[in-house]
Amino acid sequence: MADKDGLKVAKNYDPETPFGNSGSFHVKGSNNLDWGMKKHLSNIFDPKSGKTVMFAFDHGYFMGSTAGLERLDLVIPKLLPAVDVLMGTRGAIRTCIPADSRKAIALRVSSGSSMINDDLSHEIVAVDMEDSIRMNADCIAVQTFIGADGQLSSIDNLSKCINAGLRYSIPVLGVVAVGKDMERTDRFFKLATRIVAEMGANIVKSYYCDNFEEVVAGCPVPIVVAGGKKLPEKDALTLAYNAISGGAAGLDMGRNIFQSEHSLEMAFAIRKIVHEGFTDKEAWEFYQDSIN
Ligand code: 5RP
Repeated sequence: MADKDGLKVAKNYDPETPFGNSGSFHVKGSNNLDWGMKKHLSNIFDPKSGKTVMFAFDHGYFMGSTAGLERLDLVIPKLLPAVDVLMGTRGAIRTCIPADSRKAIALRVSSGSSMINDDLSHEIVAVDMEDSIRMNADCIAVQTFIGADGQLSSIDNLSKCINAGLRYSIPVLGVVAVGKDMERTDRFFKLATRIVAEMGANIVKSYYCDNFEEVVAGCPVPIVVAGGKKLPEKDALTLAYNAISGGAAGLDMGRNIFQSEHSLEMAFAIRKIVHEGFTDKEAWEFYQDSIN
């Protein structure tokens, strides 16, 4: 292991220079992958814009019934027209999503904590690869707890999923967790996103932060940005715009969509930013026009 006392601060991210190994494929870091992986990634990332609108409703896996998600069967199907990818648990998807939906699936496979615990950082892989394949998963989502008590076991979970994913051409979405005592700085996100990508994850879910362009430049696979706690709609659209302008390959928002009073209109406004180059101001105007 390198002597960490002698490490220099990394600074030459060169965010203006595009990724160097894109080839002809539209998903960052995936040009060398096989057909099956590329097919799944193309189901997730629109080949035209290169981006994605994921909708996260997997909160129940550790929060139980969540405000806005009390009735998965009523809330999720009505949002389908506005999103590209459904990120949920197998229990939610099997019970509440019509099987004829054409949306890509990001299947949450790690589990093992609940809001009752103080330390949420210990998880297991709860869904085996056979069932992920049966669910037609376009990627499987694994939580990682870099810098937390559960770091080692979460990297073990991630690595096992990546090994299985490579066997069956199922991409892995590594989710960077932020615990209550963990910093939300570019220093932390550069560390965490890079570790997850170097373990072999094909997509990383992380958070927007200062110097986000450098976080993106230092991560050789696409970053999709989480929404976090519910913000006023105008602020959430600014977060979405900043993330996309900073190089995010998409949004993976949950509460900022399903806890909005006008969730469908909000999802469509986010879609305008992600796929049509709307600014936050334009998206806010679109949202206001849509609800009036
Ligand atoms: C947990 C997750 C959740 O999917 C994510 O937190 C949900 O999104 P949001 O924060 O936007 O409600 O990945 O780590």
